Amino acid sequence: MIFAAIADIHGNHLALEAVLEDIRRLSIDAVVNLGDCFSGPLDAGKTAEIVLGLGLPTVRGNHDRYLVEQPLEAMGPSDAHAFRQLDDRSRDWLRALPFDLVWRDEVYLCHATPKDDSTYWLETVTSEGHVVPRPATEIEAWAEGISESLILCGHTHLSRTVRLTDGRLVVNPGSIGCPAYTDDRPFPHKVEARNVHACYAVCEKRRDAWVVTFRQVPYDHMAMAELAAANGRPDWASALATGFIR
Ligand SMILES: [Fe+2]
Repeated sequence: MIFAAIADIHGNHLALEAVLEDIRRLSIDAVVNLGDCFSGPLDAGKTAEIVLGLGLPTVRGNHDRYLVEQPLEAMGPSDAHAFRQLDDRSRDWLRALPFDLVWRDEVYLCHATPKDDSTYWLETVTSEGHVVPRPATEIEAWAEGISESLILCGHTHLSRTVRLTDGRLVVNPGSIGCPAYTDDRPFPHKVEARNVHACYAVCEKRRDAWVVTFRQVPYDHMAMAELAAANGRPDWASALATGFIR
């Protein structure tokens, strides 16, 4: 079995198109999507057209949830920008997304952790604002009760694999559309992929073991950086142009 795992598209339709083309070039015909599809100062409308057309197994991200649970006045600027571009069909699609799901009996999908959609699973944030690998015992504790051999999560936009003591593998494919961001919780911090390409993962089961290949796909990231700047978001413009928040 071989398939692609994508996550955190965040309204970046050019990055998504480049990744889908890369997946086609590899002749991979199964894709799963780990959520946070549209939120961002980019093009949620065009992204929704593509994503809804694909009909992928998809779990709900925290920003997917904010787009259908929060009133427009309460939304952050990234969610509000996306919300205005989405039609009823896209909002209904978001509303129907599951929190988590088991795919083909052997892959578990969630957006952030199996317990909630907004805590970092494989990383943690120190009080000084450093994003560091989370202690393995804590990662392991949250995987309790999941019997699938491959466990997928997104949310932190950082590509990483963690092998659990019993051999299960937890994988974050990284972000398709947003290589860096800032957040205030649990402490003010930056997450930076330090890379401008669209990231995703190819997962293949070989001799009963999961082999993961992280892919980095070039696309016209400067066009999206310019779009973010035109939409009043210098932070996103920096992230898309450089992979850093500068
Ligand atoms: Fe997220």
